[in-house]
Amino acid sequence: MLKTLRLLVPVVLAAIILVPAFGAGDAEKGKELYMKRCKSCHAEDGAGTPAMQKKFGEKLLPLGGKEVQAMKDAEIAKKFNEAANHKALVKTLQPGDLDNVIAFIRTLKK
Ligand code: HEC
Repeated sequence: MLKTLRLLVPVVLAAIILVPAFGAGDAEKGKELYMKRCKSCHAEDGAGTPAMQKKFGEKLLPLGGKEVQAMKDAEIAKKFNEAANHKALVKTLQPGDLDNVIAFIRTLKK
């Protein structure tokens, strides 16, 4: 019994440590998606293209800026899903895409 426990403890500990890492998105995959699907409006650095900035002003937040970076992942996801400009886009995303792209947005932090 004790022997089994001694074997089990490291396995359980490893699982607890590793599982959250699997839950988080993959920033590299997120970057690929961002450059294909988001850059046209949000610009490469997340600040928003000049045309979009002009059109939306303060409604378009810089993705690397304080306001967005202070949001929890779930809040960013909610904003993303609710943005009127994303309607067509949201429907085409695959499971995991949003997590990955949020992981990439974290790398834009100023
Ligand atoms: C057609 C242009 C367009 C595309 C493409 C687009 N966005 Fe947006 N996005 C916007 C606009 C405009 C807003 C802010 C105004 C609103 O609510 O529509 C916004 C808002 C956001 C927000 C919330 C922050 C804010 O400014 O309110 C996030 C996060 C975001 N976009 C991420 C993304 C990601 C990630 C992609 C690619 C998967 C993407 N967007 C593609 C136009 C776009």
